[in-house]
Amino acid sequence: MQIPKPMTIATRAVLVLFAAWMPLTVAAQTDEAPAGIPIESPVVVEACGVCHATDDPQILSRISYRRTTPEGWQQTIRRMVTLNDMVIDPDEARDIVRYLSNDLGLAPEEARAGAFEVERRLIEFEYEADRDTEATCSACHSMGRILNQRRTQEEWELVVAMHRGYYPFSDRQGFLENGMVGREPPAEGETPRRRHPMNRAIDHLSEVFPLHTSAWSAWAANVRSPQLAGSWAVSGRQPGRGPVFGQMTVTAVPGSDSEFTTETTLEYPREGATVAHTGRAIVYTGFQWRGSSDAAAEDAAWRQVMFVDRDWREISGRWYRGAFDEIGLDVTLTRVDDVPVITGVQPRGVRTSGREQEIRIHGANLPEMLSAADVDLGAGVDVSEVVSVTPGTATVRVTVADGAIVGARDVRIGRALGAGALVVYDQVDRITVDPPRGMARVGGVVIPKQYEYFDTVAWHDGPDGESGTADDLNLGLVEPTWSLEEYSATYGDEDLRFVGGIDQAGMFTPAVDGPNPERDGNRNNIGDVWVVAAFMPEGSDTELRARALLIVTVPLYMRFDSWEMGR
Ligand code: HEC
Ligand code: HEC
Repeated sequence: MQIPKPMTIATRAVLVLFAAWMPLTVAAQTDEAPAGIPIESPVVVEACGVCHATDDPQILSRISYRRTTPEGWQQTIRRMVTLNDMVIDPDEARDIVRYLSNDLGLAPEEARAGAFEVERRLIEFEYEADRDTEATCSACHSMGRILNQRRTQEEWELVVAMHRGYYPFSDRQGFLENGMVGREPPAEGETPRRRHPMNRAIDHLSEVFPLHTSAWSAWAANVRSPQLAGSWAVSGRQPGRGPVFGQMTVTAVPGSDSEFTTETTLEYPREGATVAHTGRAIVYTGFQWRGSSDAAAEDAAWRQVMFVDRDWREISGRWYRGAFDEIGLDVTLTRVDDVPVITGVQPRGVRTSGREQEIRIHGANLPEMLSAADVDLGAGVDVSEVVSVTPGTATVRVTVADGAIVGARDVRIGRALGAGALVVYDQVDRITVDPPRGMARVGGVVIPKQYEYFDTVAWHDGPDGESGTADDLNLGLVEPTWSLEEYSATYGDEDLRFVGGIDQAGMFTPAVDGPNPERDGNRNNIGDVWVVAAFMPEGSDTELRARALLIVTVPLYMRFDSWEMGR
């Protein structure tokens, strides 16, 4: 660690302010205060202890009273640099993030709820546990950020104080006059809630997200470095490109117990394309995979955020890239030993037609000498021929008997099982567009565009013949014809002409940012439209249609976060 650079007067003033508000140097623990987590790393003590010292050399103020994800620690350290004038070199910062994520991290059960945050998913999240806290705390950043924190009550109080001190607007924006929850008149019979919304949020968060939990003590006692070296079968889907299958070889970096290098090959059956890349990964806290692939081709550069299962046989999560992390791949990695593995079938649905059709079974270690008799697709599905076989893919010809029972079938090759990987259906009853609501941002002039990707899923209504019930059968992704339609929100709505366009893969490209002289009132190219999928199922003469609402909004002018955990 380098000596902190001389502080500006403004920073000194801020530090003095904070020194007064939130004692960075805490005296001996009082009896009732929860014990802090000792910091055993000399590097952390040296780098952070300059400002965070206490009487106990292993207890650092603020730091010992908080647990979070690698991203959470990284953001804080970045804030120490940008706002508190800490000077630190990147290698040291990485070591510190690693130590803190491992020793003051989250247990797998704790990290699940906020996984969407670190996986950078654009989802509609609702914090059911307490809508008031959600309204107070998600006005500026995602609630996911908060779900990934564990703190003492005092630390919850201090982080709120930090908002007020460093971002004075936050009081107005989030908490006071225009605050969403402070001014609601009480319901009939309800005692007026006089407590400030911020304080109510602190009460709630201290109760549900405390520093010490049984989940963490159990995990911390049992955690170890995962042995992930070996071969993994990859399967997943990339909205806009369809199903993905492939293979990853993971190699341990010599001398490290949690760093790996990776070699991956991905196959996109819809396009017939294969993409290869190499990468690196670090596994934090025994289960949080953070990797990146550094391929020259843009197509292959991914950030990887995944959960390693406790049995070290499955790793799953999201890979992403793009200016807004919006290009994504939902993936599952399955451990490959020396037995065959089945990860999926393409297409997933086969129709009871009495007609021969070709399907591809994806996996790993598929036997070189595969005969039709070795491939068992369940009742009513007859395998007539193995067309070709590689260790990763077997192409077979099948006939589904007329009258075969509609439903999912396990796919078996020897002892390998693809549970419910194939679905027998007689007709496609409906299609849905995924996501049902999407968002893109105009850009390309000052700020990059944010794209949106849509998929279409085909469905059978299932044995009960009713749409939207639990027994509905997912027949997999299909390729519809895509178009946009006006979503009429105002008189003379003409968003359709300006917002952008969708291609036949389901990728929406927004128009450019900035005022548009062609548009009435010199307005920006923002608006809302329907994304419409039209699909003609095989053997049918009725076109199925489904739609999703797409909001094309303003650029994200300001971003608080940046994510570099795999680097
Ligand atoms: C130059 C002084 C300085 C150094 C060095 C420093 N900090 Fe801080 N830190 C502060 C100040 C001031 C605050 C209180 C204001 C704030 O939250 O930013 C703080 C607050 C914090 C908090 C509480 C933030 C929250 O989310 O509530 C954490 C955690 C923290 N620091 C971690 C660290 C870590 C880890 C290091 C070492 C890598 C470090 N700090 C090094 C000055 C420093
Ligand atoms: C008015 C906007 C605003 C509101 C409302 C708001 N925050 Fe923040 N929050 C910020 C900003 C700005 C930062 C600091 C910049 C950053 O790290 O993104 C931040 C950072 C944080 C951090 C990270 C601190 C660190 O050191 O890593 C936490 C935790 C947090 N907020 C919790 C909350 C909670 C809890 C609430 C509700 C009680 C809340 N925020 C409401 C704007 C807001």
